[in-house]
Amino acid sequence: MGLRQPGLPPGPPAIPFLGNLHMFPTTSSHLKFTSWAKQYGEIYSVKVGSGTAIILNSARVVHELLHVRSTTTSDRPPHYFADITTGGLNLVLARHTNTWKAIRRVVHDAVTREACMEHLPIQQAEATQLMYDLLEQPQVSNDEFYNHTRRYASSVVLSVVFGLRCPHYKGSLVEEFFHVQRMWTEVLEPGALPPLDLLPSITLCSGTLGILEESLKRGSATSTKALLWISGTMSSSDQGRPQKSVLHGELNLVLIRYTGGILMEAGSDTTAIFLQSLIFCLVACPEVQIRAQRELDGVVGRDRSPRFEDFDSLPYVDAVIKEVHRFCPVAPTGIPHASVSDEVIDGFVIPKGSTIIMNIWGIFRDEESYEQPHTFNPDRFLLSEFGTKKGASDVGRRHTMIFGSGRRICPGMQLANNSLILNVMNLLWAFEFRPAKDPLTGNPIPIDLNAMTDVKSLRYLPSYRV
Ligand code: HEM
Repeated sequence: MGLRQPGLPPGPPAIPFLGNLHMFPTTSSHLKFTSWAKQYGEIYSVKVGSGTAIILNSARVVHELLHVRSTTTSDRPPHYFADITTGGLNLVLARHTNTWKAIRRVVHDAVTREACMEHLPIQQAEATQLMYDLLEQPQVSNDEFYNHTRRYASSVVLSVVFGLRCPHYKGSLVEEFFHVQRMWTEVLEPGALPPLDLLPSITLCSGTLGILEESLKRGSATSTKALLWISGTMSSSDQGRPQKSVLHGELNLVLIRYTGGILMEAGSDTTAIFLQSLIFCLVACPEVQIRAQRELDGVVGRDRSPRFEDFDSLPYVDAVIKEVHRFCPVAPTGIPHASVSDEVIDGFVIPKGSTIIMNIWGIFRDEESYEQPHTFNPDRFLLSEFGTKKGASDVGRRHTMIFGSGRRICPGMQLANNSLILNVMNLLWAFEFRPAKDPLTGNPIPIDLNAMTDVKSLRYLPSYRV
């Protein structure tokens, strides 16, 4: 147990019983995965007790394993914590079951490209309120900015799913929801709860793992609050009338409530984090901000705000969005997949039951593929389709990489893309973002983009001015 079986992709030296558990990153795993990729290549394995994690570090191997063979690589690893708190009903973490298929089908139908065109007026109205909120409360600390963007994203999901809005964030049930949701994000990171989430076979000895017990309590609180809240909003609107959800039809009430909560979770922080990253990049690179604004001025002008159709005439703004995705991916290691049968790739065996992790961060920071990958430079996407350098391989590359792969690919990506397009155009058109000033010296506090190594770091970076 713990040692690497013959045929597995290479990886860091493993020790008996534990394998690589003692060196498995418990936070910012994408950084460790990326440094291991330099040593062990496009595809390598990490042993975690008797289990195996396969780390994919190129678009080609992601395509081969998660897309071409998606029939056998679209399971999720068993997650002790998630199973206890959600009973397998969480669409994001559910195993490849019939329940997952049923929920996924209904969600997919609610946010297809065509359906999303119908949701566009909701997104436009909410994006207008986001501009208003920023205008009214421009002295934003990072947290307050999050509140504005979370309100936006939550209100879009609530409106689409339940026909309800979230006009204010502070003191709302949405705020409460996200308070506990943040804890979720932390415990769900690969390795965050070693060894239980990595060693499926291990059993829980009550009282031995304080951190786990604490997390379980928090997790239960999350689900309970989400369920109660969603069920509350569904059972009556402000006027006391029952609401009908787009998820009605195939799903029972419990699943509708659950799925509404899951879509809030999956759709809100992701959008908020992207917009936060965008603004840090604009503050750190004023020349990018000015160039994008000039492009908008030329196409939209000052007499009206941007319209969705304008985006087709804004190649530089499009390149800025793609570069923010590349530079600071919202989900740097995606969400782990799992295999349900043995697979062979590049002569290596990927055993049934392996956890498969897509190292999105590492793929986007690869020196072989990108010129100066640690520099924020939207121009790269004007020079080549995928922003890669001359001669780099684009096999398997696609613009939706940021949204995952295969049958688990993000079902909300069309809704998300429309949100990003509308808000990026609006924010660039309406505001100028500058570094915050040091209250003592009055000097601008520079933003160091190299410190933006993960989602958590975004929350602690210096503020900026609108
Ligand atoms: C910038 C915005 C977003 C990004 C970057 C993003 C990214 C991702 C990624 C990487 C995954 C994992 C895919 C995989 O396992 O291969 C995922 C899954 C998922 N996303 Fe998103 N997402 C975003 C917005 C949204 C929105 C707006 C919604 C819904 C309203 C949503 C709903 C979901 C759901 C339900 C899943 C789980 C799918 C499954 O396991 O079958 N996401 N997303």
